[in-house]
Amino acid sequence: MEFIVSPLYSEEEVHARVEELAGAIALSVPRDVMIVALLKGSFVFAADLIRALHLRGLTPQIDFMSLSSYAGTESCGEVTMRRDLAECVENRHVLLIDDILESGRTLAHALESIKARGAKSVQVAVLLEKPGKRKVEVAADFTGFIIPDHFVVGYGLDYANFYRELPFIGVLARP
Ligand code: IMP
Ligand code: MG
Repeated sequence: MEFIVSPLYSEEEVHARVEELAGAIALSVPRDVMIVALLKGSFVFAADLIRALHLRGLTPQIDFMSLSSYAGTESCGEVTMRRDLAECVENRHVLLIDDILESGRTLAHALESIKARGAKSVQVAVLLEKPGKRKVEVAADFTGFIIPDHFVVGYGLDYANFYRELPFIGVLARP
């Protein structure tokens, strides 16, 4: 089955919003923040965001965590850790980055695990948020776009590990 991707936010719109987010984040995290990006979905967003933060004087350290709760276009509920942090987050101020906040299970799991290891603070930045879909209570401190309940791809987000390379964000639909 072939899909079509109808654009939701253009490359230019995404870029402009990431710059705005970086401005807001730079005002509320310390210069030496530890960034934790959740793989794989946030890698493009995180790469653009950290360079925008660099331009605002930040000197972060970067680490990754890989969590999984999705099969196809449905979250299966159980969150599993595929790759843990390599760095120590004890006594660190952490900025946690993810692609999209939906049920909240992924972020809640990541937050809990980072806090349990003694982080001083954790702030959350997500590119996208689907309201009304939360299964656990978790909120982002910084949100790129609030979107309707459609399955979206591009700019790092995937369907079956495809479409991550698209420079824009689009809705996946059947032709
Ligand atoms: P949550 O745990 O339900 O909040 O889901 C978050 C994870 O599900 C994200 O990190 C994404 O990887 C994935 N996800 C949720 N909605 C979408 C979507 O519309 N497109 C692609 N991935 C999605
Ligand atoms: Mg993901």
